[in-house]
Amino acid sequence: KPPIIVRDFATALGMKPFKLISELMEMGIFASMNQAIDEPVAIKVGEKHGFQLEIKHRGEAAQQIQQSAKEKAKVKEQAAAEAEVQNLAMRPPVVCILGHVDHGKTSLLDAIRKADVAAGEAGGITQHIGAYQIEHSERKITFLDTPGHAAFTKMRARGADVTDIAVLVVAADDGFMPQTDEALKHAQNAGVTLMVAINKMDVKGANIERVKQQMQERNIAPEDWGGETVTVPVSALKGTGITDLLDMILLQADVLELKANAKTEASGIIIESQIEVGRGPLATVIVQRGTLRVGDSIVCGPNWAKVRAMFDDQGKNIKEAPPSTPVRVIGWSGAPDSGAEFKSVKNAREAENLAEEAEHLIRKNTGTTDAAPKEVSVESLF
Ligand code: GTP
Ligand code: MG
Repeated sequence: KPPIIVRDFATALGMKPFKLISELMEMGIFASMNQAIDEPVAIKVGEKHGFQLEIKHRGEAAQQIQQSAKEKAKVKEQAAAEAEVQNLAMRPPVVCILGHVDHGKTSLLDAIRKADVAAGEAGGITQHIGAYQIEHSERKITFLDTPGHAAFTKMRARGADVTDIAVLVVAADDGFMPQTDEALKHAQNAGVTLMVAINKMDVKGANIERVKQQMQERNIAPEDWGGETVTVPVSALKGTGITDLLDMILLQADVLELKANAKTEASGIIIESQIEVGRGPLATVIVQRGTLRVGDSIVCGPNWAKVRAMFDDQGKNIKEAPPSTPVRVIGWSGAPDSGAEFKSVKNAREAENLAEEAEHLIRKNTGTTDAAPKEVSVESLF
């Protein structure tokens, strides 16, 4: 049987690939555009949209799925799907900032954080973590920091796409540069929503028209040029345009209708991990589905944790983390891999058993699995 590739399947369903990817994510399946999904999954998604799956061999007759098995599965899955749909609730967008070297990604993230009312004046950035969340117009937005971080390389390798919206930073004086194009390509391949922030509007050589021209040449014309790409001029240095940018991110999030079931076992992605003296292994994670709570037992490959404590990006203790929340988790048996998926299980014993099984598997397959790309690049983002 030919594999069911996400991109092709989305086309068959008449959906935008990123929509399908996020729907799969809601089901706990992490697949990128070019990956294959299992047939039962495809059947389920198809049914949700009123389609019956029919896999066609090239040049051969259509192959019908077995009817009886399908009917049985259908009843069960429909019940599960209904429960799932009922529990779906809006979740904050996860936004990644990318662009050419020195175009102001880090400065922009700093400016955004400064604009965060929730952060107050506690004294700026308390500690660096790979992800943080701000509040704007009484809504939350999650930002991924340090793009190009090794963590994201593995994420891409595993096909786990945590990003909903990519903000491409282009310096108004430089315009598009090689890494801008590289980043653009990856954002497009990943099927995420693209926005452009034209930064350094305060500098002398700033030429916004040229940047827009360059966008047009790349088929991502800005909205005011009749295109679809939301484009916001900003100055990270002066802090201008930041509110507009945040408003536009929320607007895009509305269009995407980002939803997740908060009332189920938590699962998500490891952003980064390290070992801290006195606290042991510590991991920054993003919860994608369900709610993670202190006391939960989670497993991530050969590592597991009984969540001893959780901290937000301000270092504050928190008890629970709903979807799209970045949190630092302590209580791990070892440092989990960045980019790996974690999930909540029944109890510590089950977590430990699953971790042991994973460990055995890794030992058995040493050298054949986990061949993540070594080089850090923009690719890392998706
Ligand atoms: P890399 O992480 O090295 O890829 O760079 P980056 O994209 O994170 O850029 P960064 O924020 O470090 O900014 C690079 C330089 O541009 C710094 O000297 C900033 O002060 C400066 N800069 C960033 N934003 C602005 C801006 O809006 N206006 C002006 N005038 N300078 C800016
Ligand atoms: Mg930087």
